Amino acid sequence: MCGIVGYTGSGRAVDFVLAGLEKLEYRGYDSAGIAYLDGGELRIVRAVGRVDDLRKKIPAEAARAHCAIGHTRWATHGRPTEINAHPHCDNKGRFAVVHNGIIENYAKLRTELEHQGCRFVSETDTEVAAHLIAKMHETMKDFPRAVERAIAVIEGSFAFAVLSTEHPGAIVATRRGSPLVAGFGRGEMLVASDALPIVPTTPDVFYLQDDQVIEVQAERIEMGGKPVQPSERIRWTAEDAERGGYEHFMLKEIYEQSGALRKLASKLIADPGTAGDPGTFPAFHLNGAPLSKDYLRGVSRVVVVAQGTSYHAGMIARNMIERTARVPVQVEYGSDFRYRSPIIDPSVLVLGISQSGETADTLGAVRLAKERGCKTLAVLNVQGSTMARESDGVVLMHVGPEIGVASTKAFTGQIAALYVFAIHFGILRGTLSAPEARRRVDDLLQVSIRVDEALAQNDHIKQVALKYKDAEHALYLGRGTGFPLALEGALKLKEVSYIHAEGIDAAEMKHGPIALIDEKMPVFVLALQGRRYDKIVSNIQEVKARGGRVIAIASHDDRAIEARVDDVIRVHDDRGIVNSIVCAIPLQLIAYHIAVALGRDVDKPRNLAKSVTVE
Ligand code: G6P
Repeated sequence: MCGIVGYTGSGRAVDFVLAGLEKLEYRGYDSAGIAYLDGGELRIVRAVGRVDDLRKKIPAEAARAHCAIGHTRWATHGRPTEINAHPHCDNKGRFAVVHNGIIENYAKLRTELEHQGCRFVSETDTEVAAHLIAKMHETMKDFPRAVERAIAVIEGSFAFAVLSTEHPGAIVATRRGSPLVAGFGRGEMLVASDALPIVPTTPDVFYLQDDQVIEVQAERIEMGGKPVQPSERIRWTAEDAERGGYEHFMLKEIYEQSGALRKLASKLIADPGTAGDPGTFPAFHLNGAPLSKDYLRGVSRVVVVAQGTSYHAGMIARNMIERTARVPVQVEYGSDFRYRSPIIDPSVLVLGISQSGETADTLGAVRLAKERGCKTLAVLNVQGSTMARESDGVVLMHVGPEIGVASTKAFTGQIAALYVFAIHFGILRGTLSAPEARRRVDDLLQVSIRVDEALAQNDHIKQVALKYKDAEHALYLGRGTGFPLALEGALKLKEVSYIHAEGIDAAEMKHGPIALIDEKMPVFVLALQGRRYDKIVSNIQEVKARGGRVIAIASHDDRAIEARVDDVIRVHDDRGIVNSIVCAIPLQLIAYHIAVALGRDVDKPRNLAKSVTVE
């Protein structure tokens, strides 16, 4: 939520910051702004809209600046107007601040500062920070100390980058709850909300911990007067985060799934086991999940906490873990779990699922679990994220940076990574025999081939999707693992096309939703040939009997379905749980093609942000 970038060094600071903000637009994109120093004077340029709108307003002289900070906003306090856009500054124009997060005690601080003579011009919480830092600086004249003193009275979550006319060439940055990473170039240093703006300059980064305050200069970064060294080297390249010839990141990321799943399997599966030998179990690289055999055997229950698409992956994980490890699994929105006084004890394993590792609600639930003595395991895509650092164990999905706001490859990556964990868990608990474990691993090793087959049907899927592009509403039905997929299919359609869609457990149809069926209602049905196939066929008939139009995602060998539905999209059905990965492909492509046909901004849908770091 909101992206911040800072640059100081020998290069053109404003260009670096603008390029960086473009990479962070997935975090918010209702307004943007930049601050830089020009001949000792603070210049601030802001615009409503995208970074591109801001770029058009930057004066030529800005090219001279060697130190700048910038912001792309997802509004929380105050409407997305130019006045509310960041950076914000104090009344003397000496300190400019960009902020990601929410200052919870801002009303109290604002009143106090107003009493001390500060004039506020915006409706934002951030402006409080600018005035506070300026006030603190008046007494001590020390830039990082002034920021330290300011954050000592600020409650809430934040990542700040601050620029000052009093300290040209320096950026002071800090965080609490919201992510911030510093990058170490040669004669140039950066800070940003994530590594995307940094990687084109350097792979060497330092992830800040809560309440750490750093002073960034062109040649060095310091904390408490001591030099800071990089803590990690980013392994993906700038090209991984480019569109690479695709019209949209979403489409690129949909297509990347087979390769990403291959990579995930190669990273997480150490040895698939020897076929024919009943005694050999597969082995996994789960070093990031150092939860011992004894501990995993003693787990009484697993609680999954997640939001959005990750929550749907968690619902699929419930079925996987219960089947393979015979442990009860409960799936929760972190946002609800953390405020419900949940019943958990140290025998409960809390599994946080998150692409970004920064989602405030999931993080809050993980923290609560730790306070209650539970072990926490995070399934993540972003290596250096807050959740990665705060969890007892981490399973990385290795699917590469996901830029499109609507999650695609992270979803299938989550399912695959969770499947690996479920098999590992089942082996350790003695609930999965070696041949069973190997069969599951083989299924996973096959899945990218099946994903490729599904992707090869893109033209057909597009043709089908376009028939329904003018619908005002759509339903998605599924049973078993088909239900979370129905939820995910509906979420994808809502997010990118703005068509109202609902995912429904097909068994629930008769309890209400069937009243919605008429000849205008497209109903997408997950109709693979599992145990519940006959029941799904009955649901299809019930929809057809009421004039609804049915589009079935069906098994490659289900010939009978053709006569029952309006359209069929086929996927190879291996009758296993990894089918959910394969079924996700047509659901993603349907949403994508409809959204493109409707002229939507597919990668940056209205009102959304990829990383929701506020509650
Ligand atoms: C936002 C994104 C979704 C994502 C959800 C959870 O709503 O738009 O795509 O599923 O956050 O994010 P996480 O990073 O925790 O998976």
